[in-house]
Amino acid sequence: MVLKFPDNFLWGSATSAYQVEGGNKLSDWEINPPKRGHGPAGLACDHYNRFEPDFDLLKKLNQNAHRFSIEWAKIEPRQGEFDKIEIEHYRRVLSALKQRGIKTMVTLHHFTLPQWLAEIGGFANNKSIEYFTRYAAKLFGEYQDLIDFWATINEPMVFAGQGYLAKRWLPQKRNIFLYIRVVNNLIRAHQSVYRLFKTFGRDKVLVGIVKHNTYFEPSKNLLDRFIVGLPDWWQNRYFLNKIKNHCDFIGLNYYFHFKIKFPGLIRNENKKVSDMGWELYPEGIYYLLKELKRYNKPVYITENGLADAGDKNREWYIREVLRNVHWATQEGIDVRGYFYWSLMDNFEWADGFGPRFGLIEIDYSTLERKPRPSAYFYSEICKNNQLFVEG
Ligand code: FCB
Repeated sequence: MVLKFPDNFLWGSATSAYQVEGGNKLSDWEINPPKRGHGPAGLACDHYNRFEPDFDLLKKLNQNAHRFSIEWAKIEPRQGEFDKIEIEHYRRVLSALKQRGIKTMVTLHHFTLPQWLAEIGGFANNKSIEYFTRYAAKLFGEYQDLIDFWATINEPMVFAGQGYLAKRWLPQKRNIFLYIRVVNNLIRAHQSVYRLFKTFGRDKVLVGIVKHNTYFEPSKNLLDRFIVGLPDWWQNRYFLNKIKNHCDFIGLNYYFHFKIKFPGLIRNENKKVSDMGWELYPEGIYYLLKELKRYNKPVYITENGLADAGDKNREWYIREVLRNVHWATQEGIDVRGYFYWSLMDNFEWADGFGPRFGLIEIDYSTLERKPRPSAYFYSEICKNNQLFVEG
């Protein structure tokens, strides 16, 4: 059976600056990496110097869109000072994509901060809203004709949770008050950039958020159904409810499914897991897409993927996820694109270079790139805008 995707569907993959570029000397993760993590990223994949051949490769793999991020610390190395050389660098990156006919989705904040901002409290400092807006305005002035989709903040709830509750990521705190303050400042930062871009660019400019949602599945009984409501509201809906009038599209990142059975969670029920031990549950994306219907916005799947060094499950997982995405489109959900995470292996935050999420394998001793078999499988889907499934 052939599953045809909507016309003009975007097919791509995603990266983030700190995870692939290398040389992010003024970012907080580089200067002061989390204790017990595996940082800093150092040279990473040296994508900073190799973006041209990397884009040749993604073009060859029939991708027509690319999501990546700009490193704030490179653009604004010291508070209020913008770096001309780095601004030109990202212009070359964007132009290289445009020359290859690739649509661009750019994330303005993907987890890392300039060290100067981290030192004054990052997003826990209310001034961060003004600073983030100033940085965004600068990028808008420079790149408005080169960026098709502006994604303000990557996974705000994850960023706040890992940094201010779980103590895993910077600034490695556990403080519920700071956590809530950061979430609310991220909301305000997003809204502020949205408003500004709309006054600059009117309706032409497309601004959205990248939101990580988890599929919380209740077991059959009533109590569990009731309990599921709380994490679902806080993790999946709170942020979106606050910004629903300040976004042109929703970016959905999907990785997790948890089944709730009082008094706890059942993880990995179906036993199929990635190298990170994350359950592989393709159906979850269907339910999350249906839940987004209430916002009535175009949806892009801005991340979805798995760590799979042996490339054993990747093809299966992509196929099954896309089967579910297609099903959602058939039921009227306006999904307009899919970005696999990630184009290439990269620095997986506190887990370092171990997990292998890439369609393209990186040999870190030579930095050689080698597409995995699943990259060619995905490339056929991208080329034909359709997926072949049995049954
Ligand atoms: C997401 C992040 C991305 C990557 C993947 C595996 O939460 O946005 O940077 O680490 O997980």
